[in-house]
Amino acid sequence: MPARIIDLPKIVDPRGNLSFLEEEKHIPFKIERVYWIYDVPGGQLRGGHAFRIQQEVIIALSGSFDVEVDDGVEKQLFSLGRSYYALYLPPGLWRRMQNFSTNSLALVISSTRFDEKDYIRDYQEFLTFRKS
Ligand code: TYD
Repeated sequence: MPARIIDLPKIVDPRGNLSFLEEEKHIPFKIERVYWIYDVPGGQLRGGHAFRIQQEVIIALSGSFDVEVDDGVEKQLFSLGRSYYALYLPPGLWRRMQNFSTNSLALVISSTRFDEKDYIRDYQEFLTFRKS
């Protein structure tokens, strides 16, 4: 299954806009964990790894950054910078976050609790996993 952008609801309002998501409705899984990445110094990379089982949704709540997604054959680049764009990542994809703007805030919504055993942090091991 490929990564894809999910267009979240956007309630436009002169008092300020509002977006939201509900589990198993706007995103295709039940939410077990939410975390966020912030105060990223210029030029830093985050998340060079894959997950065996975890599905996730990444949203740029503030600022912008790019997510490079690699299925072992092809790479895709998603530029996130709207708080109503959610990037859905199924399991088994190598992903890297880069080009964080100043004060950017990345929200990550995950289908699993934290489990280091679910990470594949070695790229060669990832390629082997993809072929299996
Ligand atoms: P990691 O997922 O490797 O960060 P990134 O993908 O953004 O580069 O996590 C960094 C560290 O934080 C690692 O030691 C594991 C820890 N961590 C938790 O303890 N719980 C969590 O929910 C997450 C996402 C990370």
